[in-house]
Amino acid sequence: MLPAADDASPGPALGDAFGLLLLDCLQAGLDPGRFTQIVERSDRLIQLGDPVRYFACEPWSDQEAFALSRANGKVLDVGAGAGRLSLYLQARGLEVVALDVSPLPIEICRRRGAGQVFVGSAEDLAASAPSPFDTFLLAGGNLGLMRDSQSARVFLDALASMAAPGAVVIGSGRDPYQTEDPDHLNYNAANRARGRMAGQVTIRVRHRRWATDWFDLLFTRSRSWKDSSTGQHGSSKRRCRKAPATTWCYGRVNAKRAPSARTRRVESAIIRKRRLR
Ligand SMILES: C[S@@+](CC[C@H](N)C(=O)[O-])C[C@H]1O[C@@H](n2cnc3c(N)ncnc32)[C@H](O)[C@@H]1O
Repeated sequence: MLPAADDASPGPALGDAFGLLLLDCLQAGLDPGRFTQIVERSDRLIQLGDPVRYFACEPWSDQEAFALSRANGKVLDVGAGAGRLSLYLQARGLEVVALDVSPLPIEICRRRGAGQVFVGSAEDLAASAPSPFDTFLLAGGNLGLMRDSQSARVFLDALASMAAPGAVVIGSGRDPYQTEDPDHLNYNAANRARGRMAGQVTIRVRHRRWATDWFDLLFTRSRSWKDSSTGQHGSSKRRCRKAPATTWCYGRVNAKRAPSARTRRVESAIIRKRRLR
């Protein structure tokens, strides 16, 4: 019998390739090098990584240790993945909600012991008016979840609406300008030519015969993050430590002043939002 037309069509099947990759890793005993994360960018660039890092915990890098030491009170781990940060902070006595838009990562968080989980986006959780959070964790590059200059405002509004007074945002991302790689420089330039911010990347994750939908991540300059209490930029050594590829940022949710440059508006939107009581 011939396969159905859909089955015979070329290209990967649509599905939660990232969640399935995490599940394979977990079921194979978190063996480093056993699986490869394949990220395909819209310019056909393929980037590879070891997915075991999404389970990696102690010893933390200096940047991670610095960031995690700032987490306090009730924590929302946005895009928790396999839950490595949620589980670490939960074990240290913090109240943590692990949130992920995909059910499979949340199922993995549950199996690994996460106490409070939420399947959905930050916007979905905000709509349910939860009790306020003191810390928003956007780890593993999840500052990128701002997606694009329009969606960023909606996303950041959602976080601000769930923020306790003095809440902090701790996140990691990539500074799109910290590169000399011609592929990345060309991608940045092509973005700008299309009227997009340089750091907006369109990617999908592949695993086995599966691929996620294409989705956007928005990466921005780390120095645009400001702390309301000091007016300092996030890139000062005390506030943000830089690794070659990854940038960690730490800032408060309630900054009053908006940065002047247009490209800084988006990344600082989270700290310009109204103070919630
Ligand atoms: C790169 S992983 C990071 C996982 C984790 N934070 C870590 O550091 O190990 C990104 C996670 O964000 C989730 N995600 C993607 N878009 C999301 C959204 N709009 N809201 C919530 N989670 C999202 C994905 O399903 C994935 O589990």
